[in-house]
Amino acid sequence: MTVNIILLGPPGAGKGTQARRLVEERGLVQLSTGDMLREARSSGTEMGKVVAEVMDKGQLVTDEIVIGLIREKLESVDAPGFIFDGFPRTLAQADALGTLLNGLGQAVDAVIEMRVDDDALVDRISGRYTCGNCGEVYHDTTRPTKTEGVCDVCGSTDLRRRADDNAESLKIRLLEYYKKTSPLIGYYYRGGSLNTIDGMAEVTQVASEIAQVMDSIPRNSVQG
Ligand code: AP5
Repeated sequence: MTVNIILLGPPGAGKGTQARRLVEERGLVQLSTGDMLREARSSGTEMGKVVAEVMDKGQLVTDEIVIGLIREKLESVDAPGFIFDGFPRTLAQADALGTLLNGLGQAVDAVIEMRVDDDALVDRISGRYTCGNCGEVYHDTTRPTKTEGVCDVCGSTDLRRRADDNAESLKIRLLEYYKKTSPLIGYYYRGGSLNTIDGMAEVTQVASEIAQVMDSIPRNSVQG
């Protein structure tokens, strides 16, 4: 049995934070297109250079590149299910995901839309830092490391801020979200798989709302 869920929400909504919990608690595999693209840009290839320029401006990378990355993972990773974090972000990506999963005898089982006010997104993004070694996500005021400069999870001192976490880029990222990604809310609502939750709540409360959605996925509707 497989279960595939999509975490849908604007930059800073908490998709990565919740995806990491689901990996830990449910053994699913997180597919973050943001992480894949950051890996591509650090590889220094021609494709990586193009990706870096687009990401730094806060724009969306082309559907062709992103769908290619997801296709490669779906074809090569054997998992009890996937958490799509930051994908799909356009209608073309949503159609492609449906087709790819269909080809594997699977489907999107639930889409979880995380709603957060724009002001809170700005606060979250401007205070965020991440462990470069294990990927744990922190925040200057709401979730600092217990020991300054040291990751609570793996002890690494490689704590980083993202190049695109600045006010200018965030403005464009939000515009991109409302213009190109928010139409997916209607798309999945019409398909019957949309669940909207309050992403403004505390991390543990958001996690418990996600758990409720996951536990309500009908077992016999899941293929694979
Ligand atoms: P990506 O890496 O996907 O970034 P994003 O969507 O902008 O989302 P973020 O990672 O910024 O936020 P998040 O929702 O994961 O929040 P987090 O958990 O970290 O994409 C980056 C770029 O790559 C894009 O701009 C684009 O260029 C490109 N790209 C990626 N995918 C693409 C695609 N499919 N197509 C085309 N281009 C693509 O939390 C944020 C902060 O808030 C943290 O500090 C955290 O501690 C805190 N926080 C989390 N939850 C809570 C809570 N409940 N209460 C208080 N604080 C909280």
